[in-house]
Amino acid sequence: MTTPLIAPSILSADFSKMGEAVLEIQNAEADWVHIDVMDGLFVPNLTFGPKMVSDLRPHSTLPFDVHLMIEKPDQLIPAFAEAGADYITFHLEAVVHAHRTVQMIRNLGKKPGISIVPSTPVSFLDELLPFIDQVLIMTVNPGFGGQSLIETCLDKIRSLAAIRKERKLSFLIAADGGINAETAPLVRNAGADVLIAGSAFFSARDKKKLIKALKG
Ligand code: DX5
Ligand code: ZN
Repeated sequence: MTTPLIAPSILSADFSKMGEAVLEIQNAEADWVHIDVMDGLFVPNLTFGPKMVSDLRPHSTLPFDVHLMIEKPDQLIPAFAEAGADYITFHLEAVVHAHRTVQMIRNLGKKPGISIVPSTPVSFLDELLPFIDQVLIMTVNPGFGGQSLIETCLDKIRSLAAIRKERKLSFLIAADGGINAETAPLVRNAGADVLIAGSAFFSARDKKKLIKALKG
């Protein structure tokens, strides 16, 4: 098992201090900045758009991992690419032509990712796995930070890791939701390569120590 990458989510930061938040992420020696985009339709919450990404871009040299929890990702993907996203992940449940959306992200020079909510099986990704750089397994129902990890989602990480090995593919497996120092070992052992943590990171007094603990 290799050391996972840690991607703190700015969803749990103070929205009036986002520049400081991305600086804190970098100072704590985390690996990526996770940016949760919500439209109030795909999920019952609203966050921010491409301007947040472009305004934050000069404040960090870490990869920006943009997680689109929106109904019409195709309409906004070019703007997020332009704003400085590195990984662009959309929800399988939100689109009909997922392959086309993946191609769009690739053609914009960005790394495509697909996310699935807890009720969507891994098998729905079968045809798409060779084309993507990341699968983001939601370990809570998306929309809010601070929820508890749904342990049955760990099986999805396990089966995805087995499929990747069997089919000799190389996408990263990210886990998102309810990850803290206590649950991180479960997620790591299941085979996740990227651990996303919002509330655990921003509520930690010693953020460097937390990142070390999440890495295991
Ligand atoms: C939830 C978001 C997550 C969220 C995780 O819809 O996709 O990235 O920020 O927050 P925690 O770590 O608090 O569960
Ligand atoms: Zn997220």
